[in-house]
Amino acid sequence: MPDFDILFRNARLIDGSGGPSRTGDLGVRGDRIDVLGDAGDARGAMEIDASGLVLAPGFIDSHAHDDLPLLLEPDLEAKVSQGVTTTVNGNCGFSLAPCPGDRGRPPAPLGAFTGNGKHLYPSFDAYFRALDAAPGAVNSICLAGHTTLRHAVMADFDRPATPAEVEAMCALLDQALAEGAAGLSTGLYYPPAHAAPTEEVIALARVAARHGAPYVTHMRDERDGVVDSLEETFRIGREAGTAVIVSHHKCAGRENHGRSAETLALIARTAASQEVGLDAYPYTAASTFLVPGRAAATARVVITASRPHPECAGRELDEIAAEWGCSRLEAAERLSPGGAVYFDMDEDDVRRILAFPATMIGSDGIVMEAHPHPRAWGTFPRVLGRYAREEGLFSLETAVHKMTGLTAARFGIEGRGVLAEGAHADLCLFDPGTIRDEADFAAPRTRSAGILGVWVNGEATWDRRGPTGARPGRALRRRGARVSA
Ligand code: ZN
Ligand code: CU
Repeated sequence: MPDFDILFRNARLIDGSGGPSRTGDLGVRGDRIDVLGDAGDARGAMEIDASGLVLAPGFIDSHAHDDLPLLLEPDLEAKVSQGVTTTVNGNCGFSLAPCPGDRGRPPAPLGAFTGNGKHLYPSFDAYFRALDAAPGAVNSICLAGHTTLRHAVMADFDRPATPAEVEAMCALLDQALAEGAAGLSTGLYYPPAHAAPTEEVIALARVAARHGAPYVTHMRDERDGVVDSLEETFRIGREAGTAVIVSHHKCAGRENHGRSAETLALIARTAASQEVGLDAYPYTAASTFLVPGRAAATARVVITASRPHPECAGRELDEIAAEWGCSRLEAAERLSPGGAVYFDMDEDDVRRILAFPATMIGSDGIVMEAHPHPRAWGTFPRVLGRYAREEGLFSLETAVHKMTGLTAARFGIEGRGVLAEGAHADLCLFDPGTIRDEADFAAPRTRSAGILGVWVNGEATWDRRGPTGARPGRALRRRGARVSA
């Protein structure tokens, strides 16, 4: 009778805390880490000699849009192949719940995230039960999106919500959080939320505060107005009394290159008096919907998807405009609705933001796009291989912390993101000498190198041959919500 289901021997254990690694054994029994350190002469039903390899907590994608992919493509190879075991969904204001009643077609871009509303659920409970019934290969937590709430109670979006609408949204959010939603997200940059005044968000963030849940935001402006947007975010957190998390922090647009020195100093100063977190992806190109004006103003744009011209996915906007004999603006208009990659960040800003101690790693990947931004497939190995090993931007232990323990703490994910006896057996085994991203803008759907094994709740989802086909992921409900009277 073996002592463990899986026994790793002589691994370099990086425990997710940010502390130094040590060599040792790790035994898994069922879905838990049973022993950590020295397994003596214990036996495992499966034994893995991990000499020279790193064994770390499975990575947590702190910024994901895997809500719909988890339902439609539950193997989620893009993420599993990077060592991801949990994804944080419902970001940027877009979630699949709560939306009771038939509300018709959701406003763009919520439509794209919800299968044009076909996959909206009346409550978080209904959404979680759907995931329970058809689990995916990764665990997930999910934020309740402000834009989804707006769609649930409003018919037109280019105005502030009325007091009655705010009250209705607060009631839906309160229920969602009670049912286990992970927090509140907004996408104030996007048209269906842009007209929401700060006060509307504060009212909702107060509900999050009552549940001890964070406020997470794709800010109103990540370009010239980035500092104002940070101040708005901090004010929301302060007045509501909740932690804030700034999504995919960046300083976009040539005029703003270098300003991360200023924004990070502001974040550090503010974090002395209120809880502030942030996430970032390791690329100088952003990716979102095709916005013709923005596309025309950005030096280099690659089309990731186009409804009228699907054959253009993967091509440069410049090249398409030249071929069509029209301006870049007109080409972008003809390609809409669609998605695009915008090369509008500065490498020094990306490095500075990644290296900032509070920054978590998040992919922001749109995995179902025809020709996605490579971050969907390469984010985590890129941070470990390129930024930690090759550039020495931080230690491997720090890199792992930014994608495990730090993220679990920020989002209140219990018993994950760490190697500890009794913790859930979400694990990633990788080769620190070879790990690197292989996905690029030309071939974004490419597996990374160096990920040797991934386990979710003790079950292998990835081995040296590729995906195992197992779907042991769980829909994690937020627990320990601090509901005040
Ligand atoms: Zn966003
Ligand atoms: Cu996002």
